[in-house]
Amino acid sequence: MEEKDTSLATGCESPTADASNEAAQSAQTPNAGGEVGKKRSSFTGKIGFVLAAAGSAVGLGNIWRFPYLAAKYGGGIFILTYIILAVTFGFVLMIAEIAIGRKTGASAINAFKKLHKKWAFLGILCAVIPIIILPYYSVIGGWVGKYFFTYLTGSGAAAAGDTFFSSFIASPWQSLLFFALFVTVVFVIVLFGVEKGVEKTSKFLMPALVLLTIGVTIYTLTMPNSLEGVKYYLLPDFKKFSIGTVLGALGQLFYSMSLAMGIMITYGSYMKKENKIESSVHQIEVFDTGIALLAGLMIVPAAFVFSDGSPETLGQGPGLMFVALPKVFQTFGPVGGGILGALFFALVLFAALTSAISLMETVISIVIDKFRLSRRKACLITYIGTLLLGIPSALGFGAFKKVSIGGMTILDMMDFLSNSVLMPIAAFLTCVFIGYVIQCKTITDEIELNGKFAMKKFFNVMVKYVCPIGIAAILLTSILDVAGVFKL
Ligand code: TRP
Repeated sequence: MEEKDTSLATGCESPTADASNEAAQSAQTPNAGGEVGKKRSSFTGKIGFVLAAAGSAVGLGNIWRFPYLAAKYGGGIFILTYIILAVTFGFVLMIAEIAIGRKTGASAINAFKKLHKKWAFLGILCAVIPIIILPYYSVIGGWVGKYFFTYLTGSGAAAAGDTFFSSFIASPWQSLLFFALFVTVVFVIVLFGVEKGVEKTSKFLMPALVLLTIGVTIYTLTMPNSLEGVKYYLLPDFKKFSIGTVLGALGQLFYSMSLAMGIMITYGSYMKKENKIESSVHQIEVFDTGIALLAGLMIVPAAFVFSDGSPETLGQGPGLMFVALPKVFQTFGPVGGGILGALFFALVLFAALTSAISLMETVISIVIDKFRLSRRKACLITYIGTLLLGIPSALGFGAFKKVSIGGMTILDMMDFLSNSVLMPIAAFLTCVFIGYVIQCKTITDEIELNGKFAMKKFFNVMVKYVCPIGIAAILLTSILDVAGVFKL
């Protein structure tokens, strides 16, 4: 029966599999052990829901991805674009997904199917996205693991060297090894169903990461030239605006808030009817955006202190955090810097693990649902599949360096495909589905079950017109803009 029941939560059933939340522990969600009750259990209280959803949302997206995109796409102008998109598109989509989940009591694949038979495909599209993200997320998780290991073994000074990062990612066996280690740890945790322990620990470690980030940020801001970095990061320069900025910000928004991939639908399915959706969404957004902004404020000015904010440093993409931070840690001397580096990368590794666990749980439940396999078999298939799918991304900076389109490595391509292509398409279709197929009222009624929906008019206009037209325009313009060459 296990298999059948687990399919209740198709798609992404494990709100407990992530991060700091008390509620999730009492939520008894049907995951790891496959103990499934007839009824869906729910989060205790609104705060529990907010913490669980925010816990899933906060991960490498905030700490690693947001800062490098902000640096690459012009600093302040990227932040401004991101915030505007977050309070409009992000707000609307998160509200919609949570309401769909709570209304149907099901997750992505089943939720869309329940609402309209012909739209089951949208649930499947949502389900494909985590399958693409997990492997390359794990490659970055492996990078964090490598840095943690380097600091732990007392080689922190080497990590601050100019070529350390580039030679590490170019070395085929090293990147493969750390990637495989990361996936294996996630697999073992998921296989033995010990996520609960990870969650309990993350209740302490997540706040510790935030505090450490604040500390490092304040320290970096006392260094020469850092204010130039703060100016670059916070003051919008409209000359730097481009369609790439908007597409980058949009993809980041979906990625960071775990939108347009069914995750929030699942979270919504565990939310109690008494809890208010609207204010929960505001809180999750503030939390997620706050941590991303903070991480950027730590990393971008560091790039100005140590390399004058040169375009090569700012535009380097995925490596930014790994190149900039070790130089900051090094200024504490070998011992202090070593401890700081080990602590920082341990905490980031933890954040990455909790998100990866949640992603793997999601993929496993898709496999169980699609192929009607036992949980054990599904775990194994997901593990092997993730390893195989991640190999090209892990080797993309070394052995497979030649495979690139318009300067994008394989990892960048996976990232681009999920965040800048598939997620906007899923988001566009979700808006069309709500605005024109099931009608906005279906969603707004669900939100109004317990009180007023303050932004109802705004929601309706956004879902019907602004979001679908906006997303389609962004997608089309960027396709035309790069016609032939992906050079965003
Ligand atoms: N939002 C996560 C982050 O910022 C990444 C992520 C995307 C994720 N999709 C997810 C995490 C699904 C858990 C589940 O790092």
